[in-house]
Formats: sequence, C-alpha cells, structure tokens
Amino acid sequence: MKTKTAWVCVECGSKQTKWSGSCFACKQWDTLQEHTMVEEKKSKFESKNSMSSKPIALNQVDAKDYMRFATGFSEVDRLLGGGVVEGSLTLIGGDPGIGKSTLMLQLTDYFAKQGKKVLYVCGEESVHQTHLRAKRLNIQSGSILLLNETIFSQIKMFVDEIKPDVFILDSIQIVYKNEIPSLPGSVTQIKEIAMECMHIAKGLGISTFVIGHVTKSGELAGPRVLEHIVDTVLEFEGDRQHGYRMLRSMKNRFGPTDEVALFQMHSDGLKEVKHPSEMFLEERVQGASGSVIVPTIEGSRAILVEIQALVAQSAFATCTRRSTGVDQNRLALLLAVLEKKMGYHFHSLDVFVSIAGGLKIIEPAIDLPVLIAIASSFANQAIDPLTLVVGEVGLAGEVRSVPRIESRLKEAVHMGFKRCIIPKKNCKGLNLKEIPLDIIGVDSVEDVISKIFV
Ligand code: TYD
Ligand code: MG
Repeated sequence: MKTKTAWVCVECGSKQTKWSGSCFACKQWDTLQEHTMVEEKKSKFESKNSMSSKPIALNQVDAKDYMRFATGFSEVDRLLGGGVVEGSLTLIGGDPGIGKSTLMLQLTDYFAKQGKKVLYVCGEESVHQTHLRAKRLNIQSGSILLLNETIFSQIKMFVDEIKPDVFILDSIQIVYKNEIPSLPGSVTQIKEIAMECMHIAKGLGISTFVIGHVTKSGELAGPRVLEHIVDTVLEFEGDRQHGYRMLRSMKNRFGPTDEVALFQMHSDGLKEVKHPSEMFLEERVQGASGSVIVPTIEGSRAILVEIQALVAQSAFATCTRRSTGVDQNRLALLLAVLEKKMGYHFHSLDVFVSIAGGLKIIEPAIDLPVLIAIASSFANQAIDPLTLVVGEVGLAGEVRSVPRIESRLKEAVHMGFKRCIIPKKNCKGLNLKEIPLDIIGVDSVEDVISKIFV
C-alpha cells in the first residue's frame, strides 16, 4: 500500500497535488482540503494471473503428461523432447543473422497448419519485411498475426485480446516497459520482460517463444541473464560460410539437454539434415594423406567427420601452428607427444589442422585422430579410407578410453566403414556380433603408429 496526500476541492471534487488559494478546476477560493489517499498497489507484473495456488501433497499430484504439439521439424521435436509443451516458455538464442527469425517463421507456419492461432511480434523488422520473408519461405496463413510493436503493455493488450495459442517475441532485446527508466536491452528490461513472458506462458497457458541475441562482448545483456527464468533454452550456432546451422538444447525442463539438431540454410529457408555424417563426408577426397575420419558424439548421436592436417616446410624462422575447430592448446600437446614418443621433428615445419565442414569439436576423443592426421601428413602416407580412428591421448602417450563407443561404431557400420582403431580399454565387453567391423585396440601412440603405417 502506498499513501499519498492530495488537495481536494470541496465544491467540485477535483484533485490537485499542491495547495493553492483557488481550485484549478472551478476557480472557487479557499475550497481545498487536504486528503490522504490510499492507493491500491497494482500487481508488479501485468501478466500475472491472480489465480491463487495452494499446496498439494506430492503423491496426489495428477500424473498427467504434458500436452505437446509438433513443430513440423522432426529434429526440433526430438530436441524439445517430443514437441512443444503447451504453456511452456522457450528462449532461442544466437548470433544476429544466424537464422532465428527464419526458423521461428517456419515453425509458425506449421503451428498455423495445425489450426493454432499465432501472434508473432516482429519488433526488429517491420510487418512488411516479415511478410517478404514469409513470401520467400512460401508461408501464407490467415491465422498468423504479425504485430510490429516494441512497448510491452501494448503487446500484452493484444495478447489478452487475441488469446493466441502460440506467442512469439522477436526479440526480447527490443521490447521494453515504459515505466522502467532503463534502455531496451538492459538487464532490468530483459529480466522484467522475461518474467512477463513467463506469466503469459504459465498463467494464460500460451506456448511462448522468445528470441534473444547473444552478444560477444558481454556488455549488453544477453539471454544469459534469463536462462533460469525460461523452461527451455535453445541455442543456434554454426558457420555462416558453410551454410549449416546447429540448434542445441542448453537447458530443457521437458526433455533432453545437450541434444542437437542440424540444419542447412537454403534460398527458401532452413532444411533439416537427417543424416549429418553424409553431409560432413560429402566432399571428402579418399586416399589423401593427412585425412582421418572420426566418429564424434554430438548430443545423443554419433556423427562421422573428417579431420585434416597439413605439415609443410616453413618459409620463416618461426613456424606456424594453426587449428580450426580443434583447440589450439590440444594441438600443441599432441605435437609434443609426437616429438617425444615418435622422435618426429616439427621445429622447421608449419602444422595446420582443421575439421572439414567448419564444425567445432571439444571432446577429447578426437585427440588420437588429430595425432594420426598429423603423422599421416608428416610421413606423406595416406590412411586406409575405410578406417576410423577414435581415442583420447594422455601426456605419457597413452591412449585413453572414450565414452559411448557402441554408438560411434554403429554409425561407422551404417556409413559403410570396415575398420576402426579404438582404445584397448574400450574393446572389453564389446558385442562384435552387432558390429561387423574389424576392431583394432591400441594402448599407446607408438602402438597405433606401428599398426597404421606398416
Ligand atoms: P534471420 O533469420 O533474419 O537471422 P536472425 O533472426 O537470427 O538475425 O536471417 C538469417 C540469414 O539467412 C539472413 O542473412 C538471410 C539468410 N536467409 C537465407 O539464406 N535463406 C532464406 O530463405 C532466408 C529467409 C534467409
Ligand atoms: Mg531476426
């Protein structure tokens, strides 16, 4: 409760904040009297539903499953744990221009086809621009309502009026509440808008998607500050040059985390990549030295990717070590292991390592393949094109085991590979009946080099 004093005219009843000799409204003299007004405090969040909740015993909670609906992309459904949960709040983050608006518009189309009413707030682009984009994506529907608005109270008014099934806010950085003095995109505004969106989602049962930009500098408030408020965080990452995009679930209250869905950007929108290994091995040159295929794990899936290394005579006194997609420190370590254990000399040689397709891999299981790729380029000897390599390398040159070896090997079988070099520890308990591969277990760098280059 807030108290305020006001001066009320006893003649006409008009209110004013300061005392004056005559009433501003009726011009009568000496009619003002002091009044204490008690102002009912408005609920802080406009969207908060006043429906009261009460405690309930754990064993009496209804065990009903979440109501879900499909997105039209089987990969996105898998990522969300089986479709969009009704009344859930999802945050889609990513660099500007990565394709967040494009993806949302494509999802919107499918929602509309299921008979859902969609309110799409395009704060960043005009209705006309969004219409042009929709045209390009071949989307036409009367149940998709576009709204170009950045003031939250206006948006909220339309949400209440239209009562959509799906509400999309593009983007949270541009929408603001008038009564908060800070700028749109500031932490205060973002948090406040996110809380409002949560009340829209939970209180009104509207499935809500919020788009947010990730900023590199970290100065502007990025979606990081609201990760704990939302149910699901999907992050869009990828390489613009290569045209593929990866949607990763960083947090999910209704499904798996660290799951990924792969897309490719085409002239008519995003298309899902159902067989990533095929895409990543598409441009591979078989029988070239310095090329090794590794079965890596992304989310719950194994993907085969090519690692390439080039070792060449350096033209300068200080030689270069460069890596793309592989950690630079890891590369230095692997080179040191090769020098120490195998007696290779890299001091006048440039070393380049990259992962074909522009993928970034951080799991240590790519140590051994990177090392073999370097050795292969150094010796100018190609690795058998139907052989895969996987394993972590320790400082003593030992080959350490990797998780989820079976999924990796199954993907290898699926892609028609014949042989796989894996850590010896991983050989234990492998059911080779299901995996018709020639398995070679190795326990050290010397061991694997002697087995590969005969
Ligand atoms: P956009 O979805 O606007 O990115 P975000 O909302 O994340 O900022 O656009 C992503 C990029 O994709 C843009 O540079 C244009 C391109 N694009 C295509 O290549 N094909 C398409 O069909 C569309 C709609 C966009
Ligand atoms: Mg956008």
